[in-house]
Amino acid sequence: MPDPQQVLTARVRDALAAAFGADYASADPLVRPSAFADFQSNAALPLARKLGRAPHDIANEIVSHLDVEDICVPPAVSGPGFVNFALRDEWIAAAVTGLLDDPRLGTPLAGAPQVVVVEYSSPNIAKEMHVGHLRTTIVGDAIARVTEFAGHHVMRDNHVGDWGTQFGMLIEYLFDVGEDSAEAQLLRTDPNTFYQGARARFDSDPDFADRSRDRVVKLQSRNDPATQLLWDELMELSRQYLRDTYALLRVTLTDDDIRGESFYNDMLGDVAGDLTDEGLAVLSDGALCVFPPGFTGRDGSPLPVIIRKRDGGYNYSTTDLATVRYRVDKINCDRAIYVVGSEQALHFRMIFAVARLAGWIPGSTSFEHAQIGMVQGPDGGRLRTREGGTVTLSSLLAEGIERARAILNEIETLEGEVRDAIAEDVGIGAIKYADLSTARDSAYIFDWDRMISFRGNTGPYLQYATTRIRSIFRKAGIDEAGAHGPVLVTAPAERELALALLGFGAVVTGVAETAEPHRLCGYVFEVASLFTAFYEQCPVLRAEDEATRTSRLALCAATLRVLTAGLGLLGVPIPDRM
Ligand code: ARG
Repeated sequence: MPDPQQVLTARVRDALAAAFGADYASADPLVRPSAFADFQSNAALPLARKLGRAPHDIANEIVSHLDVEDICVPPAVSGPGFVNFALRDEWIAAAVTGLLDDPRLGTPLAGAPQVVVVEYSSPNIAKEMHVGHLRTTIVGDAIARVTEFAGHHVMRDNHVGDWGTQFGMLIEYLFDVGEDSAEAQLLRTDPNTFYQGARARFDSDPDFADRSRDRVVKLQSRNDPATQLLWDELMELSRQYLRDTYALLRVTLTDDDIRGESFYNDMLGDVAGDLTDEGLAVLSDGALCVFPPGFTGRDGSPLPVIIRKRDGGYNYSTTDLATVRYRVDKINCDRAIYVVGSEQALHFRMIFAVARLAGWIPGSTSFEHAQIGMVQGPDGGRLRTREGGTVTLSSLLAEGIERARAILNEIETLEGEVRDAIAEDVGIGAIKYADLSTARDSAYIFDWDRMISFRGNTGPYLQYATTRIRSIFRKAGIDEAGAHGPVLVTAPAERELALALLGFGAVVTGVAETAEPHRLCGYVFEVASLFTAFYEQCPVLRAEDEATRTSRLALCAATLRVLTAGLGLLGVPIPDRM
């Protein structure tokens, strides 16, 4: 385990046990990176309070029991009782050399692997997949990748909106235009336009509207084969749209991950029945509702979760309650992460509250809403086209690729297909990275110039950092896979870079715990920046001697691997060259 923070944590724990007895071995050694040394332990302060002694004495006692000779220069006590650790250069050098032979780059495998449902993307079928869904798709995919890499068993779940009254209208429209019509093909390329066509006919043609209502009844009765067939057709065309979109976005969702609202339809009656039997659901104005304690409206009145509407129809909430039960009972999940827009925060708090009241979620199982903030236009409102319309996803992605191509043309003359492929990686990478690098629950303003810039914490900057390292190896005529060091740490810039590389595992583990990919973005950006400083200060191919050259090439290789792995876990594509 090359991560110094973890190694030191273990050593301080041993010292605590040796100094104060086994009972204290479980105390958090509070080892953190520090501005005054490489790392600092703050364990003495809470312990001093507990033992009623001076923190400084406790710190000294910890130090006298510490066995870190192989890792650090002798630790010093500072301030009221901080223990400061300065790592030995040789230890850092050996640890980074070890990283080069570790395919996990120092990331521990989860000791207790969990079954984790990661629900994300979840667009509504035949409606625009807008920039909001784009962000939940991109952030959710990164969360799934990181959680999986940390050693958990991830179940991806695409909870598409494929059910409800508007499907009567959509099916009826598909029936009218014909499955093979150009209109129907819109479902594969531009579903929103299909939806708007159906909507327009519904609003202008009363006969069509009546037929649509009949169609819903047939659909929901589930015993009209012709209706079922058309619904299947609608789903197949939509799956093709999703498949193409996910492929272009390098998102790992497949058809098998789709478990839409329709899937839970037959479980809704039981949800209503069981909640009634448990005495939790009551009739209110003809609707069946649960009023979970602690949720009140602005006027102080209790807020309902509506289980069954007055007309007998079930709700979005009912489906979500059925979904919770399915995830617990059938998937046996230990953790469920819902990557959904923050505007649904209250909905999920209420759903989880009701499910816990009903005893459907075991105490040890975690249900979390990973909130996604809004992507705004320049004026802070919705993102719009110049003409004021909604921005379609396909036009947005196409524009990103086009803008990337224009910038690439300025820096390098690449030919035809190569250039197309690189422009796609850079354009898609820029959009994805912009979604990922902002804290997921914060809104941000969509800004082409900032996201496609080669400067700052952007996708193109990081992609470029990897291609620059590759070109060092190309120039040297060496395969980076053959760079094994040994790494020597002498210059300060080497030391800082090496130390940062050793932090990869801890960052990945942290992101798996918190479902916050922006922390991984911050980390790869830091590594790339430290690499730039190193490369400016430490000649690699023209190093003063062979041993230094070998060492610096190994540092380049380790940096490349950490950046590649980090961007890979974020789902940001990496072109070979730029
Ligand atoms: N389809 C919904 C929408 O577009 C998102 C679904 C979120 N997931 C859930 N389990 N309710 O707003």
